[in-house]
Amino acid sequence: NGEPSKSTQSRRPEYIPNRIDDPNYVRIFDTTLRDGEQSPGATLTSKEKLDIARQLAKLRVDIIEAGFPVASPDDFDAVRSIAMDVGNNVDEDGYVPVICGLSRTIIRDLEVAWEAVKLAKRPRVHTFLATSAIHMEHKLKMTPDQVVENAVKAVRHLRSLGCTDIEFSPEDAGRSDPKFLYRVLAAVIEAGATTLNIPDTTGWNLPHEFGGLIADLIANTPGADKVVFSTHCQNDLGLSTANSLAGAMAGARQIECTINGIGERAGNASLEEVVMAINKRGAQQMGGLRTGIRPVHIISTSKMVSDYSGMMVQPHKAIVGANAFAHESGIHQDGMLKSKDTYEIIRPEEIGLTRQDDAGIVMGKHSGRNALRTKLQALGFDLAQDQLDDVFKRFKSLADKKKNVTDEDVLALVSDEVHQP
Ligand code: KIV
Repeated sequence: NGEPSKSTQSRRPEYIPNRIDDPNYVRIFDTTLRDGEQSPGATLTSKEKLDIARQLAKLRVDIIEAGFPVASPDDFDAVRSIAMDVGNNVDEDGYVPVICGLSRTIIRDLEVAWEAVKLAKRPRVHTFLATSAIHMEHKLKMTPDQVVENAVKAVRHLRSLGCTDIEFSPEDAGRSDPKFLYRVLAAVIEAGATTLNIPDTTGWNLPHEFGGLIADLIANTPGADKVVFSTHCQNDLGLSTANSLAGAMAGARQIECTINGIGERAGNASLEEVVMAINKRGAQQMGGLRTGIRPVHIISTSKMVSDYSGMMVQPHKAIVGANAFAHESGIHQDGMLKSKDTYEIIRPEEIGLTRQDDAGIVMGKHSGRNALRTKLQALGFDLAQDQLDDVFKRFKSLADKKKNVTDEDVLALVSDEVHQP
């Protein structure tokens, strides 16, 4: 049913902020409650955030970025209550997610973020500062030297507060000079950062470029072997999932993502896409990559986030869209009735989806005779060939006028047939 076996679960590596003890384990960092909530119109209440955080723990995400505590008193309270509740709920396997708060490199922000998360069993603060020439010149109005100095000061300050799990992001890394990145990253490692997150903030990179950047940073940053590299890919060119996977294949061992891919502008890498790609292809085609996610909770989490945020999921969205497991063309329906392997690479039950009919057959103008016969049998009618031919003719003419032919429509067609003298 998609639920990992007990023995798979017990292979989950012990949580160590700055060390990879299973070289193929990719940590899933969910930022639905932070980057996701930055989707225009997606504001969540504190109670909704707590519900979502509990659901993310069921899904077994490794890290929950619960918010941006300095942004508002509400955000602070939400992060703090998630830290105290979900962040202390150790389950029977010893699993408890890391609870993370985002912060600029400003001293007050860092202190507020630490205050919000520190009661979690595994608290993390994630601090960021832009490193691209465009951002340094136009937004920050800082020189590169000042950026390095600020980043180091922030990480040292977090250390002095008692925070030992520190993530640093060079914002807009996807458009930054790699040589400058080596310098900033080496300096924050030296100051005590444990995770280096590489954001493609504007979704500018192509997969081979982003993978190349991660490989370059791991190879050329002094101290890289002491930290976990992470991806954070925005979706402006629709490449966030591909870029995140390219980053993991190049050595990143944390992927930042959101449920349903919600987030700033065109959104973020979608958790369900990244996780199912690794789940299906990680072992063979991605050098053995794996995650600790329980995919069976994907659909319920997706529905909760969509209901609470008001961000509808497009019907053809991979994994969680309403049509992701629906088959309309006659050729596909015929194939599905013969073997589900013909057109499905994931069983819907693996992600917690139960559908009305076993093969995901949707009756419409592209459906064939075999699908109609199967639908009729499911509704309790075993028609003779000439009756079936007649119902099929009338079904086709109805389907030409109607987008979806429902069970009631099929019943009406068949009852005309059966009651004909
Ligand atoms: O997109 C971005 O660069 C971010 C960082 C704060 C990680 O959200």
